[in-house]
Amino acid sequence: MLGAYAIAYGSPDVLEVRELPIPSPSGKEVLIKVNAAAVTRAGCMMRTGRPLFGRLMLGLFRPKHPVPGSTFAGEIVAVGSQVSEFKVGERVAGNAAEKGGSHAQYLVTPADGVIVPLPDHISDPVGAVICDGGITGLNFMKVVSGVEFGHRVLINGASGSVGSSALQVAKSLGAHVTAVCGSNNIEYVKNLGADEVIDYRTQNVMKHGKKFDVFFDTVANYSLKKVRSILTESGIYVSPVISWPLLGSVLFSGVAGKQKAKFAATGLAESTIQRKWMKDVISLIDSKKIQFEVNHVYSLSQIREANQFIDSGHKRGNAIIDMTLPISH
Ligand SMILES: NC(=O)c1ccc[n+]([C@@H]2O[C@H](COP(=O)([O-])OP(=O)(O)OC[C@H]3O[C@@H](n4cnc5c(N)ncnc54)[C@H](OP(=O)(O)O)[C@@H]3O)[C@@H](O)[C@H]2O)c1
Repeated sequence: MLGAYAIAYGSPDVLEVRELPIPSPSGKEVLIKVNAAAVTRAGCMMRTGRPLFGRLMLGLFRPKHPVPGSTFAGEIVAVGSQVSEFKVGERVAGNAAEKGGSHAQYLVTPADGVIVPLPDHISDPVGAVICDGGITGLNFMKVVSGVEFGHRVLINGASGSVGSSALQVAKSLGAHVTAVCGSNNIEYVKNLGADEVIDYRTQNVMKHGKKFDVFFDTVANYSLKKVRSILTESGIYVSPVISWPLLGSVLFSGVAGKQKAKFAATGLAESTIQRKWMKDVISLIDSKKIQFEVNHVYSLSQIREANQFIDSGHKRGNAIIDMTLPISH
């Protein structure tokens, strides 16, 4: 089979497309023919091995698991002897975050990991992004922020994978959503349901004149300290982007008042919880409360271009490797 392979940590140039052995599933694993896999910001961080403390898990000097890619949609082609949850031929979607490997034609992953059946009416490209922005938006709006009917929520970076999902989840919970995005994405976020839009290139978020219960910062160019004046008395600053200052605010905010900072790592939640979130997202798709646009599609041969684009930070909606496209290497 063909798959992407990272020869070291670094720029997209560390990625090669190589002939690799098809992995075989052990007793509790399934072998999946990958049809689509998301290209994500988290994946690009793993490629660079930064922040450096991440290398304690990823491999000190080079990637321990050199085939990149975590989320996937595809078809089960073999099951281990102890697998009863899935059958050969079943369509599935999920996240192989522990060992990665979804930027390849075949992938093995534990049958009791983050993997659920994918209904026929959901395409592989959409299935592949459910575990990126999809469940992250759901986790941050519903669980971390506790968004309720009538809350005023600001989403900074509302045009990205996480932001566009969070926007729609917040709307489905009955919140009033102010989306912050660039002028090129105003129509896009309005179509997703934003009540108000702030163009970060021409308008000042801090001078909007409204107070927010939740400031969800997917770009991480704000902080609790910066936005205190536009939060309600018990408002929260929430960001999915880990940093030492954010962790400091998470630990110490709330000591001198009700305003707090919050962070969570969606991919580190237990598999059972992530599977439940995936099913919740699928229900939201079914009830037409959420839609995922896959605006950037690459073949496996374009793995470097795909990574360069994600590194730029200008994604609208979602990006995938479409494994059904012809591969040249
Ligand atoms: N903790 C977790 O559980 C978790 C899970 C998944 C992802 N993440 C993290 O979440 C972050 C966001 O991921 P993502 O995939 O949503 O990123 P993304 O798709 O690259 O989205 C970034 C979006 O923000 C817009 N943008 C850029 N600069 C902006 C600014 N100054 N103000 C407002 N919008 C701006 C970009 O559009 P334009 O540049 O065209 O304006 C783009 O649409 C990443 O750091 C990722 O690692 C965390």
